Amino acid sequence: MNAPRAGFQRNGTVEIREEQRETWGTRAGFVLAAIGSAVGLGNLWGFPYKLYSYGGGAFLIPYLVALIAVGVPMLILEFTLGHSTQRAAPDAFGRLHRRFEMVGWWGILLSFVIITYYPVILAYCFSYLWFSLKALATGANLPWAGEGLAGVTNAGDFFYKTYLGYSEDLALGGLRLNIAVPLALTWLAMYLCIFRGVRFVGKIVWLTVPLPWIMLLILAARGLTLPGSPQGLAFYLNPDWSQLAKPSTWRFAFGQMFFSLSLAFGVMITYASFLHRRSDLNNNAALVGLADTATSFVAGLAVFATLGGMAFATQQAGHPVPVQEVVKGGPGLAFVAFPYALAQLPYPALFSAVFFITLVTLGIDSAFSITESILAAIVDKTGWRRGPVLIVMSLVGLAFSLVYATAGGLNWLGIVDGFVNGTWGIAFMGLLQCLVLGWLYRIDRLRRHANERSDWRLGAWWNGLIRFLAPVTLGTLVWWSMFDDFASPSGFLRDAQGRWHAGNVAGLAVVTLAPLLALAFSSLRGAREAAPHPARPAAPFASGLPALVAAVASVAAAVCGFAAVLAACRGGRPGDPAALAALAAAALAGAVAAAAAYRHIRRAAASGADPAWSARWAGILGTVALGAACGFFLALRTSVAATAAAPSAPAEGLSAAAYGIIAAIGVLVFGGLAWSLYRAVTAGAREDAAGERI
Ligand code: PHE
Repeated sequence: MNAPRAGFQRNGTVEIREEQRETWGTRAGFVLAAIGSAVGLGNLWGFPYKLYSYGGGAFLIPYLVALIAVGVPMLILEFTLGHSTQRAAPDAFGRLHRRFEMVGWWGILLSFVIITYYPVILAYCFSYLWFSLKALATGANLPWAGEGLAGVTNAGDFFYKTYLGYSEDLALGGLRLNIAVPLALTWLAMYLCIFRGVRFVGKIVWLTVPLPWIMLLILAARGLTLPGSPQGLAFYLNPDWSQLAKPSTWRFAFGQMFFSLSLAFGVMITYASFLHRRSDLNNNAALVGLADTATSFVAGLAVFATLGGMAFATQQAGHPVPVQEVVKGGPGLAFVAFPYALAQLPYPALFSAVFFITLVTLGIDSAFSITESILAAIVDKTGWRRGPVLIVMSLVGLAFSLVYATAGGLNWLGIVDGFVNGTWGIAFMGLLQCLVLGWLYRIDRLRRHANERSDWRLGAWWNGLIRFLAPVTLGTLVWWSMFDDFASPSGFLRDAQGRWHAGNVAGLAVVTLAPLLALAFSSLRGAREAAPHPARPAAPFASGLPALVAAVASVAAAVCGFAAVLAACRGGRPGDPAALAALAAAALAGAVAAAAAYRHIRRAAASGADPAWSARWAGILGTVALGAACGFFLALRTSVAATAAAPSAPAEGLSAAAYGIIAAIGVLVFGGLAWSLYRAVTAGAREDAAGERI
């Protein structure tokens, strides 16, 4: 990587680094790499299963709301931050303000936790691919094949007992070589993909992005042509509108969207830092978000059509296995249900190989995007050479991953994933990012930077999304889930008998360690210190004081609301008037504070001054209190963490509403994708004509 020279050049309101660091080479290289990061294991087993569990087709509504209102706007934010600073996440934040660097490291540390377990799942996929290829070559049966419900148990036993040697308790047990060897190979493959730098990654993704798409299309086409597939699709798409009234549906839709777009981990910031100075940002973000959603949707079609085919085939063979008997979340779907279903159908080894090639190629570019972002963060901070850092990092990563290559490993994988990937990790990071960039930094600068070079422009509404809508929605989710965790009757850290839940304690320790380490890393002196922002006079503290007073009042009301909601939940009074009044007061004062802060900031900008710190903090506190009020309100209404009910068998085939949903997705997602591509192509043609193609 070329060492970029420190120093900024003032260019209107935006700072652009003078020198260009290493780039992707082409626009397609970047877009494919970002899609490669986004499209991963989460699309093929996370999305279909969550959709199935939370309302079928109805789940698409919260998912699309999450994508359009929060996902794509935040992706634009991350792209712009990386691009304008040309630095990996921690340094990118550090360029804006010395103290923000910690936010970047926090995300990087969470990514590090993910990169210890994500390759383990890829290692399972490699093993299953190997089993499938062996069966294909020798003509033997797949090792998990079996008939009827006993066959499902058999497939489960093969995965949990034979392959994983799984034990339910948290003790790790010895290292399992059958997992450790493919795991080491996975790390090697990741290393080989990125060791030559991002330009080479931009070429590798020409293989790892289209290949799983082709495989998915094969699986979908095959599934859809099986007799019985409409019955399977009915599970996937027939909407259960009542699920929309349950907050858990919304919670899972947001969580899934965040993970799927690789948001808040610093990955997208880092990838965008390798873009050419003149590259588009807004349209690229839309392309990535829509392509990711399209992939998830098609993956669901493939999975459920095949399961429908399986239900039909087993019925015909006289040992019926209905769809709902095999669909279980998490690894069960990819390593038990789907392999079982394939084994019931013609050409089992062939399609099983296709399925695991899909998983491996889907996952590998997500995995190395994480490695790349950690690597770039270290290299940018220390100035060390990329090659040796990557080798050491891969070895350290492998050593940590080996923890999961044990009998109890899958339990730990589930726990760690639940924390990092859930409210405690990713949603919280997303919230922090919006607050810091939206209120503490002048977000208009980023918008202008994005608009100056993009195929289409963002309006001022984008500022509002990043300042209000995204943090309030994320805050609602964060506060509500944290409340649920701690107030849950089964006890979060200790059970009713006072015994500690080792898994939750460890998970919490991991997520709280992250900010502490982030603080430590950010306080180390880097090789290239950021040039300070040119100072501008700030508006007087007193001018933001009324907003701050409202904000403090809203926080106080939210704290009272919290106590009242806790008491009301324990006493079983979901309509408790004191709790409702406190929450309403918190929400109102929070909204007033945020609105006043927003007005102050606009006025300050118009007069060429920086906003007062009082107003900035008023904005943050007000938005947080508003989110907390909403979150506690939901907690009050649901009081205990809601679990998904497995859908009952739907009526024969797809309902009319399901067809409507397919049409709506066709227009919104695939139509949107076509529109974005059209804008990109016409913009490219204009640049060609003007001779400024990059
Ligand atoms: N988006 C990836 C997936 O859906 C996972 C991922 C998360 C990748 C975070 C990078 C960072 O599987």
